[in-house]
Amino acid sequence: MTSIPDFYGRFPDLYDRIATMPGIGRWRRTAARRVASPGATVVEMGCGTGANLPYLRDVVGPDGLVVGVDITAPLLERARTRVAAYDNVDVVLADATALPIREADAVLATFVCGLLPDPASVVDRWCDLLRADGRIGLLDATASTHHLGRPLNPAFRIFVAAGSPNAGVTETLSAPFGNTDEVLTHRVAASRTALARRAVDREYETFGLGFVGLLTGTVESTD
Ligand SMILES: C[S@@+](CC[C@H](N)C(=O)[O-])C[C@H]1O[C@@H](n2cnc3c(N)ncnc32)[C@H](O)[C@@H]1O
Repeated sequence: MTSIPDFYGRFPDLYDRIATMPGIGRWRRTAARRVASPGATVVEMGCGTGANLPYLRDVVGPDGLVVGVDITAPLLERARTRVAAYDNVDVVLADATALPIREADAVLATFVCGLLPDPASVVDRWCDLLRADGRIGLLDATASTHHLGRPLNPAFRIFVAAGSPNAGVTETLSAPFGNTDEVLTHRVAASRTALARRAVDREYETFGLGFVGLLTGTVESTD
C-alpha cells in the first residue's frame, strides 16, 4: 500500500502543473466565491500545492484569514511558496480528518473527498467546526453523465487509476474497460449526501463537460 503522502509527495511539480492547468482556475474561483466572504476565516482541507489559496485570499481580503491543511509535506512546501506574499494566508501540515482547529466561517475541499475512507463522517466533522451560518464547499470529479462528457469516461477512468495511490500498471491499462472509479464515485456521493444532510441553501454546479461538480451549502447551526 502506498500512503497518500508518499504518492502525492513524489511529484510535486507535476501535480502543481495539473492543479493549475488552464480552465481549472475558473472552477477554483467559483468555489472560493461560493464559500468565502470578506473578513471570513476559511480552512481549506487537503490544499495540496495551494492552487485555491490565492482565490480564497482574494475573497476574504486583508481582514480575513485563510488556512490550508494537508498531510503531504512536499505539496505543502509549494503552497507555502505560493502564498508567501500574503500575511493572512498560512499552511499547516495536519490530517484534515482530525483537525486541531476549533472554529471557522467556511470550509472548502477540492478533489479530496474521493481519497477519504469515510468521507461522510469527515464532512460531518467539518460541518461541526463551522460557526452558525458557516459555508462549506466540496469540488470533486466523477464520471460524466453529460452527453458530451460520457464518451470520454474511459479516458477519465485511466486518469483516476493513474492518480490512485494503489492502482498499479495493470489496473491503469485496463481502467477504460472496468470500474476503477467505483470507490471514488461512492466516496464522492457519500460526501455530498453528508453535506446535503447538514446544509441548507445548497447549490450544485458542474464544470468540464460534467466531470467536475461543486456542491456548496450553509450550515445554520452546529447545536
Ligand atoms: C488530488 S489532491 C488535491 C489538492 C488540492 N485540493 C487541489 O485542488 O489541487 C488531494 C490532496 O488531499 C490531500 N489529503 C488527502 N487526505 C488528506 C488528509 N486526511 N488530510 C489532509 N490532506 C489530505 C493530499 O495530500 C493531496 O494534497
